[in-house]
Amino acid sequence: MNDDATDRSGGQQTSPGLLRDRFSSEPHAVMERINASIDFDRRLYAHDIAASRAHCNMLIAQEIIPEDDGHKILKGLDQIEDEIARGEFAFTPALEDIHMHVEARLTEIVGEAGGRLHTARSRNDQVATDFRLWVRDAVDDTRDVLKALQEVLLMRAEEHAATVMPGFTHLQSAQPVTLGHHLMAYFEMFERDRSRLSDCRKRLNLSPLGAGALAGTSIPIDRNATADALGFDGPSRNSMDAVADRDFAVEFLASLSLCAVHLSRLAEEIVIWSTSQFGFITLPDTLATGSSMMPQKKNPDAAELVRGKVGRIVGAVNALLILMKGLPMTYSKDMQEDKEPTFDAVDSISLCIAAVTAMIAEMTVNTEPMEEAAGQGYATATDLADWLVKELALPFRQAHQVTAQIVRIAESGNLALEDVPLGDMQKIEPRITSAVLDVLSVRQSIESRTSLGGTSPARVREAISEARQRLAES
Ligand code: ARG
Repeated sequence: MNDDATDRSGGQQTSPGLLRDRFSSEPHAVMERINASIDFDRRLYAHDIAASRAHCNMLIAQEIIPEDDGHKILKGLDQIEDEIARGEFAFTPALEDIHMHVEARLTEIVGEAGGRLHTARSRNDQVATDFRLWVRDAVDDTRDVLKALQEVLLMRAEEHAATVMPGFTHLQSAQPVTLGHHLMAYFEMFERDRSRLSDCRKRLNLSPLGAGALAGTSIPIDRNATADALGFDGPSRNSMDAVADRDFAVEFLASLSLCAVHLSRLAEEIVIWSTSQFGFITLPDTLATGSSMMPQKKNPDAAELVRGKVGRIVGAVNALLILMKGLPMTYSKDMQEDKEPTFDAVDSISLCIAAVTAMIAEMTVNTEPMEEAAGQGYATATDLADWLVKELALPFRQAHQVTAQIVRIAESGNLALEDVPLGDMQKIEPRITSAVLDVLSVRQSIESRTSLGGTSPARVREAISEARQRLAES
């Protein structure tokens, strides 16, 4: 705290800051400590100033404040924004929050006229407005970085539309798939995440400004004008709901939580694929760390941290839900606790998205071990069963049994399916011919999965170009 700040918080009468005119004593030290939010809500400064500008312009237009004073206020707000942006602004816990800091400094700069800015406004509608504006920007930024991740997924999926790998269920080899198809599964998850964010933005985008403390105001304000100036779709309808509502933050954090879960699944695959046991991918050295003791180690820490950070993001939505639960109408100071978890969740998710984008863009795909693994674990057994259905008209359940018996023979002889002697297969089902060998290779298996949404390279390429178009349109 510098001298300037100490002066301003010293309880002098020119400051609108301390709001203790009706009290006879200074606040207890612990009161100031528990009450102050300036250490974190200074992040709202640009939004707070934008809302103050809109409010001031409206007060001028409605002839609620003299034009002169209004212009002084607007100039003062510009100066304050500049001071904060340059890091030249003095913050002090005595002035509680960003709203009081801006107003106190404004009065310092423009004198008495500064005191007119708070006409027909309360910190309750002010903070609701600032926080909505901040979350709205965070929604837009998150959508943008997700889109960049999706573009990288499309690029790598196209490159690997025909790269064969094992597809898993229960993390056991199930059926061969293409890496392109696998990556496109994540494209779809992030597409839903972006759509959830847009959806939450629609309900968020109503302006609480002008709700006053809770009941509206007797002063002839124009809420449509301030809503318009701030890019809102209109004013919120009920002044009590306007100051009491934090649904927009909860919805946003819920969307981020699900997105974080998606990121963690992809991160987990990066961890698994980069083990020496799998060897499907190699991360560049720039995106890995070493071990302090084991010189041979190359660890996927970034992927692990993406997995780990889900805890705090999902924690944030829980924090807000529990914070809001049981609060009576309208504003309660509890609600000041809404910001830190939200800021932290946004910081965390942007870091996670950036890390995953870099890892997907820069990983080396080791196509040979992938393709080799795709053939292990009798991954084409379903193709054999399907052949029995298509060529011999066996009911699928029966084909399943026949195939299971052939798998057992392969297993006991330690053979791949296609290496089981035809004679042995015919002991189980005499009508099997050598034509069956055609469907037992992994290549043939993926080529044959041509159903809509399936893994055949042709379908994957089709899906990629359709996805590229969707991405361009939203
Ligand atoms: N710092 C407060 C918050 O973040 C601003 C609103 C304070 N309103 C009040 N009536 N004390 O919620």
